[in-house]
Amino acid sequence: MIYLNGDFLRIEEARISVLDRGFIFGDGVYEVIPVYSRKPFRLAEHLRRLQHSLDGIRLQNPHSDSEWTYLLEQIVALNEGEDQYIYLHITRGVARRDHAFPQGVAPTVFIMSNPLLTPPPGLLHTGVVAISAADNRWLRCDIKAISLLPNVLLRQMAIDEGALETVLFRDGFMTEGAASNIFVVRNGILLAPPKNHLMLPGITYDVVLELAQASGIPHEVRAITEHEVRTAEELLLTSSTKEIMPITRLDNQPVGEGKPGKMFALFYQLYQSYKQ
Ligand code: PDD
Repeated sequence: MIYLNGDFLRIEEARISVLDRGFIFGDGVYEVIPVYSRKPFRLAEHLRRLQHSLDGIRLQNPHSDSEWTYLLEQIVALNEGEDQYIYLHITRGVARRDHAFPQGVAPTVFIMSNPLLTPPPGLLHTGVVAISAADNRWLRCDIKAISLLPNVLLRQMAIDEGALETVLFRDGFMTEGAASNIFVVRNGILLAPPKNHLMLPGITYDVVLELAQASGIPHEVRAITEHEVRTAEELLLTSSTKEIMPITRLDNQPVGEGKPGKMFALFYQLYQSYKQ
């Protein structure tokens, strides 16, 4: 079952207008929230980021946090699986096609939830392959916008080359992945790029840094050069659906020793215990 504009429906029954500004302009924002043991993970943080995205596109939040919490609890209860991932999507609503904001139009609110399939153990054993590309997205990557065409094209580049993710570089520095954040390990120190308008402030990224802090693991938040990525001991990828994964090849070169490293093993365990 899904939620659409006040109704709980089967997905086959859900209908929106072809004039929806999400369809016409990609004018909307979204969130992806993991659910463990039927409980949304880091909900307050996801709702805070949703507010940041809505502010970024100047769209009023259609619900209070307690209303969102209620809707999300309903959706989780109506779907199968102890572990799920919620997709929440808000657009500027249905209006005659005109770039300027419509007046007095209700936003479209859509929520669905699907089983969360975390990475198979085999992949965590071998690690995943990534390629790299120039980050050709806009300058507001901190907004979780539904207009994802550059991310779609960049991620497909990876798939076409038999890889899982594309690591992005802008002006000589690493920003993030096409659909994930990237951490770098050098000299035994975990490095994370600073949050700014060039990357999505990942909720999993925050969890990893908090775990590093709490466990006394050396870490630094600072700009990371392309050279530092290419000569890293380890590269880690994080996202709500992929949790934490080791990248063991980048552009056909082994990362470090070409196998998942110590820092990955440590954070994988820390994350698994923390998420429960
Ligand atoms: N994507 N950067 C980008 C561009 C992303 O699309 C995502 C997640 C992340 C990681 O953020 P978080 O840890 O909050 O999931 C970073 C989601 C999963 C998606 O679009 O499906």
